[in-house]
Amino acid sequence: MRILGIDIGGSGIKGAPVDVATGTLVADRHKILTPQPATPEAVAAVVADLVAHFDWQGPIGCTFPAVVRRGVVETAANVDPTWIGIDGQNLLAAATGCPVTLLNDADAAGIAEASFGAAKGRPGVVILLTFGTGIGSALLNDGSLVPNTEFGHIEFRGDDAEHYAAARVRKAEGLSWGEWGDRVDEVLRYLDAVFWPDLFVVGGGVSRKFDKYSERLHPRADVVPAALRNEAGIVGAAFAAAGT
Ligand code: BGC
Repeated sequence: MRILGIDIGGSGIKGAPVDVATGTLVADRHKILTPQPATPEAVAAVVADLVAHFDWQGPIGCTFPAVVRRGVVETAANVDPTWIGIDGQNLLAAATGCPVTLLNDADAAGIAEASFGAAKGRPGVVILLTFGTGIGSALLNDGSLVPNTEFGHIEFRGDDAEHYAAARVRKAEGLSWGEWGDRVDEVLRYLDAVFWPDLFVVGGGVSRKFDKYSERLHPRADVVPAALRNEAGIVGAAFAAAGT
């Protein structure tokens, strides 16, 4: 079965058809810059362009970088505030003429890593964190997702954890990889103490640089980099839409 996976991010909106049996892309990814301001209407128009690019007719799985409950966008930490309260799932279905499943971006990455990536075949509790502009999170138990965890917004040192340890903060504050790794370690140890996971998966662009900071990470649970890299959102969204 093939599903069009789409990953809505702050800088780009990417998509590709996915074979959901294998978790592989069956055509090259296509990326369109996220419109600014990224209002619901402007983003929906870009998603419709992606659908037209692939001449797609069929189910779509789509990520969004915020809490999404039953299709409705509930938060806007790093997205245009006009999204709050919008039924994004219906909006995108109307814009594309296709059935759409909309879910949180990190949840999609977690589903993909559990099914095809770094957490595949790992029983027990897995926490995936994506480090980018913010920190996204996915919590899985034996491969089942608890949706919309927002560990990036746990209060940490008097502020959101994502304001302390997101990948963006490393650059903004000029931290070395080691200094930033120490901050990530603090977040992992905190989550370790309250969730006792078996495995942490470090996702986002920094997963490719894992060697630069991994020696600083010492939670009780195992820690591994994400395996699917750029494609985790697309694959996970497609997989979620397949209902598998
Ligand atoms: C949002 C999450 C999102 C994460 C990564 C956070 O600021 O609250 O919903 O998963 O950023 O995009």
